[in-house]
Amino acid sequence: MYICICNAIREKDLRAAAKICSGDVDAVYESLGCTPQCGSCLDDAAKILIEERGLTEPPVYTPF
Ligand code: FES
Repeated sequence: MYICICNAIREKDLRAAAKICSGDVDAVYESLGCTPQCGSCLDDAAKILIEERGLTEPPVYTPF
């Protein structure tokens, strides 16, 4: 199943990337070589990051 249609990101690929990349949705998309475009997938993607990482809240981006 595709989570992000704009970037053709599959749920299984996002779940795998969530375990490798510790950042927020933008950072995980970047680790996949993508950039959010329309943004309609971002809430679902954030929920998947939370599930995969066993968190209760979305990760917060902290630049350096
Ligand atoms: S569906 Fe993911 S950016 Fe558009």
